[in-house]
Amino acid sequence: VKTGLETLILSAGAAGAEAAARTLAAGGLVAFPTETVYGLGADAANAAAIAHLYAAKGRPAFNPLIAHVPDIAAARRIGRFDARALKLAEAFWPGPLTLVVPKTEGCPVADLATAGLDTVAIRIPAHPVAEAILRAFGGAVVAPSANISGHVSPTLAAHVESDLAGRIDLIVDGGPVTVGVESTIVGCLDAPMLLRPGGLSRERIEAVLGAPLARPPVEAESDDSQPLAPGMLASHYAPRARVRLNARDVALDEALLAFGSERLPGVDAAVAVMNLSPTGDLDEAAANLFGYLRSLDARSPQGIAVMAIPEDGLGEAINDRLRRAAVAR
Ligand code: TXA
Ligand code: MG
Repeated sequence: VKTGLETLILSAGAAGAEAAARTLAAGGLVAFPTETVYGLGADAANAAAIAHLYAAKGRPAFNPLIAHVPDIAAARRIGRFDARALKLAEAFWPGPLTLVVPKTEGCPVADLATAGLDTVAIRIPAHPVAEAILRAFGGAVVAPSANISGHVSPTLAAHVESDLAGRIDLIVDGGPVTVGVESTIVGCLDAPMLLRPGGLSRERIEAVLGAPLARPPVEAESDDSQPLAPGMLASHYAPRARVRLNARDVALDEALLAFGSERLPGVDAAVAVMNLSPTGDLDEAAANLFGYLRSLDARSPQGIAVMAIPEDGLGEAINDRLRRAAVAR
């Protein structure tokens, strides 16, 4: 890993976008905001830059990346869209949806970024700073979440700085993200399949398709050696504290991640309490999830008790990330 790099931090704006584009073109690594989480970008066509990206994150190299582009024309230069894929792209892009499609002939995305697959994951982020950078750069940018592999994804520039300062060239600070969980990933190779729940709810996708999303085979979800969206390892989102789900009470040495207005027994003696959404709003809860997990973990509790979260809307993505955080390591 290249450490000891001088990591420059710029605020978003024309100068920030120009500096980001120049750094990407020179093979550098740039963290930037999207509506879901902060991404760590590299030139999708530059294998050496992508190798540095994997090293900076400490990420297993078999785990492929999402190519970010500014518009559908750019997306169609790297991936082949059938009628259903195009329908989803037109309905939800720019937005928190990633589509996995077959690569085009002559797809410029480096094999290292797609882990040698003949498919490519693509998305158009709905964030003015991301869009400005993509347009200024002019090519596809691969970007995983801008955190050390296995840490909680960053929703603030400060999270990126605490994980990656000294390992990357530039952080463009665009303030807090709005969605707070990663994009929903839909495979469009055959019948559209939900590969990762995320910032766009299943219900909204199914409404546009007029049919339920196909479900991945169950064994792919539990088998770390054969994940479907290969980055979905069981223990992906891991605070240091032990995470206990569906808590009905709080122990003395625990912090509480609350949801809704119910008061659990033991709450007054908790190490710390943060409420994802006192009114029970799942969009608000998603936006707060990763930042609150980081804050509670920083208090070094023995464990983090998490209240039950409903499974509808963005609840599916929230519960997915919480289950991964709860896998014992
Ligand atoms: O919201 C997001 O998607 C953020 C922002 C930065 O755009 N990015 C993000 O990237 O979450 P990352 O690298 O943390 O997750 C990418 C996921 C992984 O689970 C990876 O395995 C999957 O996409 N993926 C990439 N290419 C794939 C492919 N060809 N087939 C199946 N899954 C793929
Ligand atoms: Mg990630």
